[in-house]
Amino acid sequence: MKNILVIGSTGQIGSELTMKLRREIPQSTVVAGYIPGAEPKGELLESGPSAIADVRDSAGLAEIVSRYKIDTIYNLAALLSAVAERKPLLAWDIQMNGLLNILEIAREKGVAVFTPSSIGSFGPETPHEGTPQDTIQRPRSMYGVTKVATELLSDYYFHKYGVDTRSVRFPGLISYTTLPGGGTTDYAVEVYYSAVKGEEFTCPIASGTYMDMMYMPDALHAAIMLMEADPSRLKHRNSFNIASMSFEPEQIFAKIREYIPSLQVRYEVDPVRQAIATSWPDSMDDSCAREEWDWKPTYDMDSMTVDMIKNLRLKLGVK
Ligand code: SER
Repeated sequence: MKNILVIGSTGQIGSELTMKLRREIPQSTVVAGYIPGAEPKGELLESGPSAIADVRDSAGLAEIVSRYKIDTIYNLAALLSAVAERKPLLAWDIQMNGLLNILEIAREKGVAVFTPSSIGSFGPETPHEGTPQDTIQRPRSMYGVTKVATELLSDYYFHKYGVDTRSVRFPGLISYTTLPGGGTTDYAVEVYYSAVKGEEFTCPIASGTYMDMMYMPDALHAAIMLMEADPSRLKHRNSFNIASMSFEPEQIFAKIREYIPSLQVRYEVDPVRQAIATSWPDSMDDSCAREEWDWKPTYDMDSMTVDMIKNLRLKLGVK
């Protein structure tokens, strides 16, 4: 029996993670936490309980945790990197004050907490190729600052209070279900929509810019696998590098053209996103995750592209 709260259940990761948890842990109650204006709909609404869960409302969160006897929180509330640059104070409020509220409740009520970190937790001085698990983390974006602080605060609560905090550094996540909003890696999702719709794609990231990316099923699997892992094997907690593929724009365009040769692309580089992208790793070393909890991705660029195109055609009603 598990009682899980997913905070941010209608977002890019949460919408799929909530459904996967409900499907794969049948004895569990999985509460879909949301904020007003981003209410769950359809299957997400109908397949289990939902509740307003604003990370900035500590009393409200504590009430949900008590009402549903929550033992695990997946905390997915965050502004992505480009939006966080436009709204740094809001990003701090959600990502830091919100996290502190969650960790305090977790400490009082014995709840395990997963809060993702990101490739965004690295910065220009980080070794860019084969980025090690333990290395320099001096990001220049507000998103990155909050992600490094998330790692530190989560580890602090583990070491000081024994709160079971665990985390992965997600690469750019690619999926056909819910669009990301305002991230630096979003181009790698959006180009699939343009390709399937037969529209020209305008790329905000310069050719030659490598970033780690991952197909959503692998990312969801990683989060659940880590939270289920044997704690005695974990030498790290917050946060693990995980990796499956790394590419630059021309490589993903070439891969899509193997299936949709008509894809047209032009570049209109966004300086804010480009500066962020340039400061991030080109490819991460995920050997600690492989050793400590048997992490292994399933999808590569080719199998992801086949699956994305098939499912987007169905979703958008395009032949
Ligand atoms: N996908 C995120 C972003 O681009 C990085 O974790 O902001």
